[in-house]
Amino acid sequence: MTTDHETSKIEVTLLLEAIYLKYGYDFRNYSSAHIRRRIRRRQELTGMENISAMQHRLLHDEEFFQTVLYDLSINVTEMFRDPAFYLAVREKVVPILATHSFIKVWHAGCSTGEELYSMAILLKEAGLYDRLQLYGTDFNELVLQKAREGIVPAKAIKDYTDNYQRGGGISSFSDYYTAKYERALLAPELKKKILFANHNLVTDQVFGEMQMIVCRNVLIYFSRELQKKVITLFYDSLCRGGILCLGSRESLQFSGLADRFSQLVDGEQIYQKMYE
Ligand SMILES: C[S@@+](CC[C@H](N)C(=O)[O-])C[C@H]1O[C@@H](n2cnc3c(N)ncnc32)[C@H](O)[C@@H]1O
Repeated sequence: MTTDHETSKIEVTLLLEAIYLKYGYDFRNYSSAHIRRRIRRRQELTGMENISAMQHRLLHDEEFFQTVLYDLSINVTEMFRDPAFYLAVREKVVPILATHSFIKVWHAGCSTGEELYSMAILLKEAGLYDRLQLYGTDFNELVLQKAREGIVPAKAIKDYTDNYQRGGGISSFSDYYTAKYERALLAPELKKKILFANHNLVTDQVFGEMQMIVCRNVLIYFSRELQKKVITLFYDSLCRGGILCLGSRESLQFSGLADRFSQLVDGEQIYQKMYE
């Protein structure tokens, strides 16, 4: 006989499988304590008897699925995350961006915005600030609200400073924030270059003609089919010769478009759209 606890673990596994099969979002490898807690919390809030009842509802009620998707959505981010990536952007991508008279960069799935503020700093230091527009999108309005504030926890500053330096920063990271008690307010001039907007990568349309698209640590939660759809959206949203940056555990492998891009940097998921 299984205990109640074991039964609820089975139910979580089945729920994640149902989400994957019906909607293509893949949280199956993320059945961590965090995911289980989120699911139980939603079950309690909706007053459902058990997780199987939740599974039934989300299979038949897409609006309810959206609520659960927000609950499960993993928003972890940090400034200059994976410093080697930023170093590669400085060395290999900046010279390409510099050939454009106006530079539009789209960060898709930007969460609370740390990635955008990092890119704003990098491109400012590269001397490209005057001809730059950054766009940050996410489908979660709550994280976007935080992103617009441009505030990070002061306790993260030490790690961010370390990331910034390892990512090739040429100034002092302290130039870019003002610390106040347990919060650090990012320099308002960084915000001037960033527009935040709600955009769902699965259901919404092409997003302008971009010189660079950065979408990191988002596709890992998508099925192959969804990855293909989203990479096609990126392909259509990039100018010829535009740059696509994915996360370290992501690639173009399942997109069917791998031969339309060339890999720009060995060991980094940084690609350039072919000119043809
Ligand atoms: C793990 S965070 C990655 C944040 C940042 N790109 C980074 O690498 O640090 C994933 C983000 O993708 C967003 N996301 C997931 N599915 C999405 C979708 N269909 N459309 C837009 N954003 C999505 C989530 O809301 C979350 O903020």
